Amino acid sequence: MTRTITLIEGDGIGPEVTAAVVRVLEAAGGDFEWERHSAGTTAMETHGVPLPAAVLDSIVRNKVALKGPVTTPVGGGFRSVNVELRKALDLFAALRPVRNLPNVPSRFQGVDLVVVRENTEGLYSGIEHEVVDGVVESLKVITRVASTRIARFAFDYARAHGRRRMTVVHKANIMKLSDGLFLECCRQVGSDYPDVELDDRIIDALCMQLVLRPEQYDVLILENLYGDIVSDLAAGLVGGLGVTPGANLGHELAVFEAVHGSAPDIAGRGIANPCALLQSGVLMMEHLGLREEAGRVRRALHAVLAGGTRTADLGGTASTSEFTDALVGEIESG
Ligand code: NAI
Repeated sequence: MTRTITLIEGDGIGPEVTAAVVRVLEAAGGDFEWERHSAGTTAMETHGVPLPAAVLDSIVRNKVALKGPVTTPVGGGFRSVNVELRKALDLFAALRPVRNLPNVPSRFQGVDLVVVRENTEGLYSGIEHEVVDGVVESLKVITRVASTRIARFAFDYARAHGRRRMTVVHKANIMKLSDGLFLECCRQVGSDYPDVELDDRIIDALCMQLVLRPEQYDVLILENLYGDIVSDLAAGLVGGLGVTPGANLGHELAVFEAVHGSAPDIAGRGIANPCALLQSGVLMMEHLGLREEAGRVRRALHAVLAGGTRTADLGGTASTSEFTDALVGEIESG
């Protein structure tokens, strides 16, 4: 069955990495029709807005999108397309599986963990005000509804993917009410999943343990700010954002994306590494139930990297197209 996917190529290296990923997913048997849309700087130039309504309509219609990185101006300019997408589509869960890849330099081996981040509230609720001159308040909002929803998502994910342990990360010793509620909701939901072992860690202790013995963790669930920071820390454990996939999911809609930026410094030079978006493509295939096809891509990626073909950011010499050719060759011969 042909699946229609909203494809947002993005800015900078976005078009280069999305083209590579489309080629590989199709070579692996993915029967996709791509509905192409632009967002970010590219959309600003062509449509006068960074996130045209047609993009949102397309994702709502197709339920699934694959998205390259988009540029966000620092300081002034338009608001982050990524944040707008999450808000407009109620993509309440951010998922980041983190796993070592062969021949990708990193300080650790044997890392295989999943970071689940609540995407809609916490300190990112955007409620800030100046009380008096020189005193600012920023409100951290934690609700039972959102905490229970993300916990349910995380446990369902763990169960569906054969994960055995869930660690709730918090600072409930200090923020007794807000983080206390988050922890309480996770524990309540966890009681429905006796097959997944539940424990918890204080955020600062977790950070230390992650950089000492990351292999001891399985699934981590965190509120928004902690999740944002720990997601990138976790990516750093296995070689950085260039090799780490990501997804933002709601009840019905899902956007699979590269977590690195648009890399303006190397855009157009044909040397971008498509590994991160490719692995997001693998997550997308699994989400669509295309397990065999996803497995083909994953095996090809491991084989090509193990054989020493790598892009420059990983210490290799392959261009984006040479790396993509190697992946397609591996799939076709496998
Ligand atoms: P960046 O991730 O674009 O680049 C940081 C460094 O990593 C650069 O040296 C770049 O060349 C390299 N790099 C990143 N991805 C690479 C890849 N796939 N292959 C090879 N090298 C790669 O971060 P930066 O420079 O801070 O941000 C650039 C723009 O991207 C900004 O406008 C930022 O807002 C946006 N951004 C967008 C994201 C998204 O759409 N998900 C996420 C992060 C940043």
